[in-house]
Amino acid sequence: MAKIIVITSGKGGVGKTTTSAAFATGLAMKGFKTVVIDFDVGLRNLDLVMGCERRVVYDFINVINGEARLHQALIKDKHSENLCVLPASQTRDKDALTKEGVEAVLSDLAKDFDYIVCDSPAGIEHGAMMALYFADEAIVTTNPEISSVRDSDRILGILQSRSRRAENNLEPVKEHLLVNRYDPVRVSKGEMLDLEDVKEILAIPLLGVIPESPDVLKASNKGLPVIHLQESIAGQAYMDMVERFLGEERPHRFLEAPKPSLIQRMFGGK
Ligand SMILES: Nc1ncnc2c1ncn2[C@@H]1O[C@H](COP(=O)(O)OP(=O)(O)OP(=O)(O)O)[C@@H](O)[C@H]1O
Ligand SMILES: [Mg+2]
Repeated sequence: MAKIIVITSGKGGVGKTTTSAAFATGLAMKGFKTVVIDFDVGLRNLDLVMGCERRVVYDFINVINGEARLHQALIKDKHSENLCVLPASQTRDKDALTKEGVEAVLSDLAKDFDYIVCDSPAGIEHGAMMALYFADEAIVTTNPEISSVRDSDRILGILQSRSRRAENNLEPVKEHLLVNRYDPVRVSKGEMLDLEDVKEILAIPLLGVIPESPDVLKASNKGLPVIHLQESIAGQAYMDMVERFLGEERPHRFLEAPKPSLIQRMFGGK
């Protein structure tokens, strides 16, 4: 049975697309047939982060509207054998994403893939609702700041009341917390929420903590999901997260600020 996982947040710009690309790539690297779908109709960011933007001919809406078959719109990832991308349309209006249309595409994909990863747009509008409606599991992506945590709490309420699982009184959507852009130095200065605070407010199981890292932007500028960069702490934290998702025990890393060296301490550097 294919599992549908939505990467959601409420607040915009917290790292959903970065996470969708890294998480889907990680699952594929672990040998699972994975497809990642861009639900952000009008913006189309996922194909850039995945480095396949020049290969987009047909998109999700074309498939829903019957203008292309699913296999014509799926783009095989350049780096990972088991991974495909279903891009969003840049131009069409968001209402083209009908519930029936999305359901038909998901059930077709479920025949061929182990995991279906849905990259949600920001907010709680139609596109975000469609991205989470059919989910079996949700990765709620949050930055360690109050507005982001508040919006994640709101999304948890929606997952628990307006998803297909909630409507049909099925087992609830399984929720995971992903804290992204964690910067222990800023946390220690009180400029960001502490991990414990975020965990306490949202009260859902912690799947991963991704550190703030310039590698994320560097990788996405190259069209390479950051999980491919094995020397990057963000890449390593994403791989830990994937392994945890698959049931392995992995301690959380990169939660402490690096200790200053002897020379830095002697000369008062930070
Ligand atoms: N761990 C990180 N360290 C540094 N920069 C990051 C990190 N995660 C994401 N970013 C940067 O934050 C920006 C927003 O990321 P991304 O596009 O993944 O967010 P999003 O939640 O998908 O946004 P939207 O709500 O607009 O869809 C990008 O410039 C990305 O490179
Ligand atoms: Mg996005």
